[in-house]
Amino acid sequence: MSDDEKAVTIPAQGDAPKEEGATLTKDPAPGEVLLRVSGLKKHFPIKKGLLQRQVGAVHAVDGIDFEVRSGETLGVVGESGCGKSTMGRLITRLLEPTAGKVEFEGRDITHLGVSAMRPMRRDVQMIFQDPYSSLNPRHTIGTIVGAPFKLQGVEPEGGIKKEVQRLLEVVGLNPEHYNRYPHEFSGGQRQRIGIARALALNPKLVVADEPVSALDVSIQAQVVNLLDDLQQELGLTYVIIAHDLSVVRHVSDRIAVMYLGKIVELSDRDSLYKAPMHPYTKALMSAVPIPDPRRKAAKSERILLKGDVPSPISPPSGCRFHTRCWKATQICTTVEPPLVELKPGQQVACHHPENFADQAPQDTVLLTVAKEAAELVADEVLAESAETSAAVAAEVTKETDVTKETDVTKDANDK
Ligand SMILES: Nc1ncnc2c1ncn2[C@@H]1O[C@H](COP(=O)(O)OP(=O)(O)OP(=O)(O)O)[C@@H](O)[C@H]1O
Ligand code: SF4
Ligand SMILES: [Mg+2]
Repeated sequence: MSDDEKAVTIPAQGDAPKEEGATLTKDPAPGEVLLRVSGLKKHFPIKKGLLQRQVGAVHAVDGIDFEVRSGETLGVVGESGCGKSTMGRLITRLLEPTAGKVEFEGRDITHLGVSAMRPMRRDVQMIFQDPYSSLNPRHTIGTIVGAPFKLQGVEPEGGIKKEVQRLLEVVGLNPEHYNRYPHEFSGGQRQRIGIARALALNPKLVVADEPVSALDVSIQAQVVNLLDDLQQELGLTYVIIAHDLSVVRHVSDRIAVMYLGKIVELSDRDSLYKAPMHPYTKALMSAVPIPDPRRKAAKSERILLKGDVPSPISPPSGCRFHTRCWKATQICTTVEPPLVELKPGQQVACHHPENFADQAPQDTVLLTVAKEAAELVADEVLAESAETSAAVAAEVTKETDVTKETDVTKDANDK
């Protein structure tokens, strides 16, 4: 057994820091870079025939660069199939990258083997989308939430049972339900169990892949707010993946917008919502539900992207969005726009960005596809919808705190 694999005792969360050996380096100060990703790629080979010869590859993640700073929440959004989950699995090292680099606390973890990754696994945890399939139905909640301690050979102070019960309480569940099975819980409660399991080893980074998309809308806000509260209490750093901008808006400090395996815009939250610069971001934002029924009726005021997302097996040349972009010109078909910081804290990959000077002003002739790519929305309507959804999100937060208390009481009464 290597030093890395020796059993360690960690104190309960919120107490003294982990014992020496439980982490690789000292905890980074808030704002310091915790995770750095550069040129990250994942191409899934497509094999055919008896000899299983490779005939192509799915370019699921195709060269992305970003940082996650300690204590922040990075939201990652994009349509289905754009590579969000693959990115999440790459940074948690559940998948082996095809190319590029992943650094955690300054250490290159891109190609660490299973045993070298084991101590790292305490620091980086993942919450999965589907709370139904991610919990083993034959195991009790106690076994599920306590599993990370056994896998890591970690003995918490006071024993595993006591620590698991504490964790259940932290996520708003009744600790007396330790011996119950997953089917005895609702979807929202199961996701809380998944969160408790992810928090067991006091991680530094939590990657949550669509943590609420399988839940009823009424429960979604509760879980999002739970994640938010836990971040404040435990100083966690999050990467939260969602396909819906309204989910990440409330909790993110910065947001990365992905399209076909690339990051097309990476910005602090307020700048992104106030003045999105990539046409795709603008289209995604206008897909965010507008609660005002009068606005809902005004369909012509939204950007409706036409056409399907192209195949990641052979992504379009130049800018990958050019087959659906209403601003596309010739240069967009041939030159891939690099992701550059056009405004402080706002990086974008576009030749003709919104809300900023044109980067290719000489290229003015729209492609045929551009003329039919979308219906446009007036800027002031977009701004208004963003303000309304901010107000709704704030309202949800207030209500959630009340509901959460009711939930816990209900659990206690269930007993
Ligand atoms: N193991 C795999 N083998 C082959 N292709 C894969 C594999 N996993 C994902 N893909 C493909 O990679 C692309 C990106 O998938 P990914 O699941 O990362 O997208 P996503 O953005 O998470 O989508 P969703 O919003 O639907 O969850 C898709 O085209 C998908 O079919
Ligand atoms: S304007 Fe061109 S570069 Fe910008 S998103 Fe549209 S197609 Fe891509
Ligand atoms: Mg996914």
